[in-house]
Amino acid sequence: MIVYFTGTGNSRYCAQMLASHLGDELMDSFHFIRDGVAAKLLSDRPWVFVCPTYAWRVPPIFADFIRSGGFSGSREAYFVMTCGDETGNAAAFNQVLCKEKGLLYKGTLPVVMPENYIALYDAPKQAEALKIVDAAGLSLESGIACIREDRNFPVPKVGAVDRLKSGVINAAFYRFIVKANKFTVSDACVGCGKCVESCVLNNIELCGGKPVWGGRCTHCMACICTCPASAIEYGKASVGKPRYQCPEYKGIV
Ligand SMILES: Cc1cc2nc3c(=O)[nH]c(=O)nc-3n(C[C@H](O)[C@H](O)[C@H](O)COP(=O)(O)O)c2cc1C
Ligand code: SF4
Ligand code: SF4
Repeated sequence: MIVYFTGTGNSRYCAQMLASHLGDELMDSFHFIRDGVAAKLLSDRPWVFVCPTYAWRVPPIFADFIRSGGFSGSREAYFVMTCGDETGNAAAFNQVLCKEKGLLYKGTLPVVMPENYIALYDAPKQAEALKIVDAAGLSLESGIACIREDRNFPVPKVGAVDRLKSGVINAAFYRFIVKANKFTVSDACVGCGKCVESCVLNNIELCGGKPVWGGRCTHCMACICTCPASAIEYGKASVGKPRYQCPEYKGIV
């Protein structure tokens, strides 16, 4: 079973492509996480966990979803991590997570997709983004071949800097950077509630027809990128930047 988490659609696209090519089931973790319900899933095919990379690791909310869930049937687990650039030493943490769950770790595949972190970086414009998505197909195909043939994903080369990024820098990132207090909304807001619906942590409420952010945020960028009126900003960092949403995978069966 292909189980995914996404903020802006990259990981959904990859999960859909994997499910389509492997003829396997697809499961979105969104409602389990949002509703605080532990998943109880059964599959006789290997588990393939697909998610974005946040600070060179699996997002904590997705790691917690896996940690708290029941995954019975197959004991094999692959990880596919979409990223704007690279996944650092994420694989080591995925291996530990598998050990905790009694799952046989089959590897971590980084798949470069368009950058979505507009609170810190720029997202590519649409034409450039589509090129990156196209190119990601090759990495995904190599991953699909490994899963079909029951091979492990190739082991990534990891150095001291990668260990630092996924270790202390990851911890500092969550302590100092990941906060919702810089989100603002402009008069362009039409009160449609799409930002509220998009938040996996249920961290947004409409008050007087405008969104208000609470204290639970994982910086997934769903709210700011989903707003049809581009009425949301993250301080000054997002001003003038293209919002990013990955289209659905068209080849899905
Ligand atoms: C909070 C946050 C942290 C990120 N950290 C990394 C990172 O460490 N390395 C990287 O290559 N990309 C990083 N990115 C980029 C995303 O991993 C990448 O764009 C991903 O494909 C987004 O997936 P999604 O559309 O499924 O949410 C980060 C994005 C966000 C929002
Ligand atoms: S998605 Fe945009 S327009 Fe809709 S309620 Fe949220 S901020 Fe307002
Ligand atoms: S508030 Fe926005 S960025 Fe934070 S978790 Fe919710 S949707 Fe994601």
